[in-house]
Amino acid sequence: MSVSLNYADLTPGKATKVTVGDKDVCVVRVNEEVFAVADICSHSEASLSEGEVSGEKIECWLHGAEFDLRTGAALTPPATESLEVFEVKRDGDTVTISKSGR
Ligand code: FES
Repeated sequence: MSVSLNYADLTPGKATKVTVGDKDVCVVRVNEEVFAVADICSHSEASLSEGEVSGEKIECWLHGAEFDLRTGAALTPPATESLEVFEVKRDGDTVTISKSGR
């Protein structure tokens, strides 16, 4: 299961929500890199793509938990569980997001 995006459509520092199979995924471009984590906050099911990106972190808009976009780790309460991380491959202008199999 994978989904492809146009790299040029990804605005640095802004999150985009896509669907991979049956999962909503939050895709964020940070400078030249693209990260993809589960869109649903591990705390209480808010959509992280509506949150705020700062550097390689995203903050949940609902209760303010921060997550590391690179690892999916929960960095601040009230979230304690990591987010699933999706595999990102870039080939020129095409970015492909898929389940990592981890
Ligand atoms: S739902 Fe995200 S921090 Fe509570």
